[in-house]
Formats: sequence, structure tokens, C-alpha cells
Amino acid sequence: MTSSCAGGRRARARRYLMCRPTYFDVRYAINPWMDPHRPVDTARACAQWEALRALYRDLGHTVELIEPLPGLPDMVYAANGGLVVGGRALGVLFRHPERRGEQAPYLRRLARLAPGGVYRPAFCNEGEGDFLPVGEMILAGTGFRSEPAAHAEAARVLGRPVHSLTLVDPRFYHLDTALCVLDDDLVAYLPAAFDDAARRRLATLFPDAIRVSEADAAVFGLNAVSDGRHVVLSAAAEGFAADLRTRGFEPIGVEFDELRRGGGGIKCATLEIRA
Ligand code: ARG
Repeated sequence: MTSSCAGGRRARARRYLMCRPTYFDVRYAINPWMDPHRPVDTARACAQWEALRALYRDLGHTVELIEPLPGLPDMVYAANGGLVVGGRALGVLFRHPERRGEQAPYLRRLARLAPGGVYRPAFCNEGEGDFLPVGEMILAGTGFRSEPAAHAEAARVLGRPVHSLTLVDPRFYHLDTALCVLDDDLVAYLPAAFDDAARRRLATLFPDAIRVSEADAAVFGLNAVSDGRHVVLSAAAEGFAADLRTRGFEPIGVEFDELRRGGGGIKCATLEIRA
């Protein structure tokens, strides 16, 4: 399947990069979701991850893999491995030293997936955690992880307009926990996760956006992956799923709560490789 069209929404086949949670664990706390004193069920995380990978394949998408490495328990969050647009990859520079060991392996892997080359960043950015392409533009989060200078760097390296958005709620520390790209001109977001300037900017750019409830965002409902028609999201985000149906999308709810223990969800585990 390359594309399907029903109900007006058209799916486009995607290419994703994922990392098996073989060594997933919560050994440090760098966001409010992480509690190193509560044991993690790694087998359960792997089973949920395998089901997600199989679902992407059933939907007609290509899933590339990166080898997980011991000692890097957050490596499963592949969205933080880079940003690939137009075949060109921007590498990452993590805010927290605990994750910096992931930078080189992701750079090496992206070098083989991005024919346009890989750029090593000078400023802190956490890949698709904070950079979300929408059509020709890129939305960029800051406030907790990626720094504003990295937004300018991304615009320069990738040759796309970048809109900076400041996040204000520590639970929604990456842009992909507070905003979901549904299509080339449509997003969904939690307004309360952004400062006033960002809210104004989003209202101007996307007057038709879906505004999602705090309850749905708190189960990582916005940490979802859309192919333009199917939206793979947390099964617990029922209100958001209903809104998606109204807009002609096909929501597919999945159980992905074990990785929430590290502060991530479906989108965090998925890096899109854009040709
Ligand atoms: N434990 C990871 C961190 O705090 C979770 C990353 C989630 N990734 C994402 N794209 N939101 O860095």
C-alpha cells in the first residue's frame, strides 16, 4: 500500500526509524514522569513496542531499526535521535548528560538513511522531540530541552522556516508531548502547555486545529503518529480519538503505557525519515 483514500483523508506511506527497548529502564529522573524507585517491566515494554512496529508495517509503512545499546536506557525514544527533512539529517545534542551517549550511534545510523548528509549541531536540540515538520514549515519547542539558538540552526541547515514555541508545563517538556501533527496543514495541541505568544502563533497558523483536553494530553494522547489518515495514539485518549473521527481521521488506539514510565509514548518511539 502506498496510499489509501476514504472519508477524504489520504494516507501517505512513511519511513520510520525505531529502537527496540531491549535495555529500557528508568535509572535517572530527567522529567517528572520518571521514578527510578519503581521497577520497569522491560518485557512488557518490548511487547508493546513489537506490536507498534507490526502495526506500522500493516499500515504499509517501512520501519528501519537502530541497534539498542546497553547503558542507554532512553535510546528507545528514537524521535530524539535527530530530525530528517528532505533527505538531510540534523543530529542532536542532548540537554542532559545522561543521554549524550546516544548522539554518536544515532548520527552513524542517520548517515546511512539520509543521502543529503548529516549535520552535527552546535546547540542543544532533541530532534523530533522538539522539532515537528508541518508541510513546508517546522514547529520548534523550547523552554525545557532544545534551545532557541538550535531553532535558527535548524532553519539554516534544513532551509525551512522554523516557528519557535515556548513550552511552560514540565509534564509536557518536549513539543511532541503537547502537539501532534495530523497532516500538512493541521495539528492538534494542548493550549495550556504553551506560553501566550506560542498560543497566539498557533491560533494564527492553524485556525482549524484540534484543541485537546488536559486529560487526553496527560495520557500522552498527543504523542501520536499520523500518516495523514490513520492516527496511532494512546488507547486511553478517548476524547481526542472521537475528535479525530469527526475530522475524518481513523484513530487507532494502542496500549503503550510501559514507556510512559520514562516520560514517552508512541511518537517518542518513532523518528520519521523524510526523503
Ligand atoms: N526519558 C526521556 C527523556 O526525558 C524521554 C524522552 C521522550 N521523548 C520524546 N520525544 N518526547 O529525555
